[in-house]
Amino acid sequence: MNSFELNKVLGAILGCCLITLALNIAAGAIFAPQKPAKPGYAVAVKEEQQNAGSKGGEAQKPSEPIEALLANASADRGKQVARQCQACHTFEKGGPNRVGPNLWNIVGSPRGEDRGGFAFSDAMKKKGGKWTYDELNKFLTHPQGYIPGTKMTFAGLTRDSQRADVIAFLRTQSDNPLPLPKAAENKPAGGNQGGQAPASGAPQQQAPKAK
Ligand code: HEC
Repeated sequence: MNSFELNKVLGAILGCCLITLALNIAAGAIFAPQKPAKPGYAVAVKEEQQNAGSKGGEAQKPSEPIEALLANASADRGKQVARQCQACHTFEKGGPNRVGPNLWNIVGSPRGEDRGGFAFSDAMKKKGGKWTYDELNKFLTHPQGYIPGTKMTFAGLTRDSQRADVIAFLRTQSDNPLPLPKAAENKPAGGNQGGQAPASGAPQQQAPKAK
């Protein structure tokens, strides 16, 4: 290769570099890259979802009363949803306590009591009262929002229908299911698959000692 040819090669390389540089500048001028304020990827999230993850508790109140929701609930669907709970809970009669207590006959039972000697958090014990349909609805929407300090580290079920289905399922996990609330009973049985007829007038069962 003589020096003339070498010059041509070097010139071509230099030319390429110049063109690339010029293109880069031109592209920058046309597309004006936006640098994010913080390094990282900007992820577009809908407002609702952002709220659901926040600790505020404000946006995580049930939007409809449980009576209306239960009218269209299905215990069968609820059984599927309840799989999420099974990492920590058993539902069957006499089932063992896991990370959370066994939940047989939970609807209508006193809160944070008994359950085979499960070590409830102080927050849960202090809250007192019973697990009514309404209480379950509020708790399962956002456990830590409704009972701050609870040991149940579960984000919550934000979908109304899922919560109602799970509560309908919990209701069936009892020898003597608590009657459905009024509004739910009066509606025609659209998908209301509790299986058992509401045992109206039956004395409310207390939590059996889960062994
Ligand atoms: C990560 C584990 C975990 C998951 C998942 C979980 N729970 Fe719990 N749950 C707990 C613990 C722990 C407690 C006890 C809370 C306390 O003492 O503060 C509890 C308590 C409860 C109670 C109150 C029991 C009582 O006797 O007062 C109910 C009702 C309940 N859970 C329902 C559910 C349902 C329904 C689901 C699924 C949608 C679920 N939990 C998912 C861990 C869990």
